[in-house]
Amino acid sequence: MTDIRKHYIDCGQGHVFTHFDSLSEAEQQTLLSQATAIDLGEISELVATLIHSPRTGSENEGDDLSPADYIPMPGHCESADPSLWKEATKRGEAALRTGRVAAFTVAGGQGTRLGFDGPKGSYGVTPVLKNSLFQVFAEKILATNRIFGRPVPWFIMTSDLNHEDTVAFFEAHHYFGLIPERVHFFRQGLMPAVDAEGKILMAERGEIALSPDGHGGALRALVRSGSIRLMEADGIDTISYFQVDNPLVRCLDPTFIGFHLMNQSDLSSKMVPKAYAGEKVGVFCQRDGKALVVEYSDLPERLAGACDANGELRFKSGSIAIHVFNRDFIARLGGNGEGGAALPFHLAHKKVPYIDREGVRHEPTAPNGYKFEMFVFDALPFADHPVIIETARADDFSPVKNAEGVDSPQTCRDDQLRQYVRWAREAGIEIETDHSGLPPFAFEISPLFGDTPARFRKSWEALPHKPGLTEGVVLV
Ligand code: UTP
Repeated sequence: MTDIRKHYIDCGQGHVFTHFDSLSEAEQQTLLSQATAIDLGEISELVATLIHSPRTGSENEGDDLSPADYIPMPGHCESADPSLWKEATKRGEAALRTGRVAAFTVAGGQGTRLGFDGPKGSYGVTPVLKNSLFQVFAEKILATNRIFGRPVPWFIMTSDLNHEDTVAFFEAHHYFGLIPERVHFFRQGLMPAVDAEGKILMAERGEIALSPDGHGGALRALVRSGSIRLMEADGIDTISYFQVDNPLVRCLDPTFIGFHLMNQSDLSSKMVPKAYAGEKVGVFCQRDGKALVVEYSDLPERLAGACDANGELRFKSGSIAIHVFNRDFIARLGGNGEGGAALPFHLAHKKVPYIDREGVRHEPTAPNGYKFEMFVFDALPFADHPVIIETARADDFSPVKNAEGVDSPQTCRDDQLRQYVRWAREAGIEIETDHSGLPPFAFEISPLFGDTPARFRKSWEALPHKPGLTEGVVLV
């Protein structure tokens, strides 16, 4: 018997090898290498703390929380200082010009809610051309490259479940015009799913049910994959982080980058005021002098609904998963010991198809398994000088999460159209819309034509023959 099998038996996970002897040699090798990569000590500790004795909230839960400070945006708040924002923009522009910034997308998720067959980044989102999320980001990065005269490197985190398909998608689209050597793919870590007793679930007779270890796995994956070393060799010390599902994001926002650098921040974040008390977004808070994000499900109702003297939500800073990281901070946090797991794991109760000990396949209709995930915002309490700046939701955030309803392809398409209309109106173009700013037809503005209102106006004014903005018109 191999040592690894014995180790699994000793740890109460011997069932993983129930069908081992009937597997082909190749299947046996696959199972052995999967099993070897799993830290059973870590799993049993997670099972003990998260499943068997979960933390229960006390009555005073949250009494030690206060709202986190943030830098208000001019136009949104009287106390905002426009000169500070201008200075930040200049600092960020200088950083882009000197080539010290990388773009970083986490794209290792399973996208189960959207239910699209393929990497989520290959999903078509734009109103007319249905360009993919990856293409939208690529064009934004290309636009930045042209403006600042530097090819910004783009790091993309995948997982074993979508790595090959993601790379193939970029190859099939010739990297959307980017220099292929400046696009770096790397895989995140995987964690086994377990049942309510903490037993590892099997996806096949010779395959453990593994899933990506959460977007927080990005930190250790950046270190383990050698990406951090690559950045260092390339003179990159500032990493602009965004998620694959949000085409509105400003991938390389000079002002945000500038605030991050001016404050010598380890980790900076964008916030939007929550739309209503029960909105399902994490909230920026402060505890013991440290900033942190409290998930909506963990924020006691009495705090989520609390108002200040002006009748505004007290805990109003919603997190939209847009950050800038300092490279050395990631090296420190992601490289902590062999496991590098400075970030805590969270539990997700999900439907996990599995094979039982008799070899029978089950397709559960209700959650039967637990997955372990790290969240990137859990890095915040470890950060020195964290900066949180306000942004306009309409200009930074409209994720595609669900197939229908909120945060779906339809809401995202509409938000893109509303943004195009705002830019067009700022440039003096008249467009009829409904009360929400939505035009009755679809048109499209490529980031290569204009990725800000000012650059849109410039390109528009330079057009010798200006098209009417009507159904199907695309400005590239
Ligand atoms: P979500 O939390 O929305 O998860 O990810 P998801 O996997 O995309 O979708 P569901 O929950 O299965 O429907 C937010 C971002 O974090 C990335 C996703 O790719 C997305 O960009 N992510 C998530 C990872 O890179 N790895 C993970 O393990 C989880």
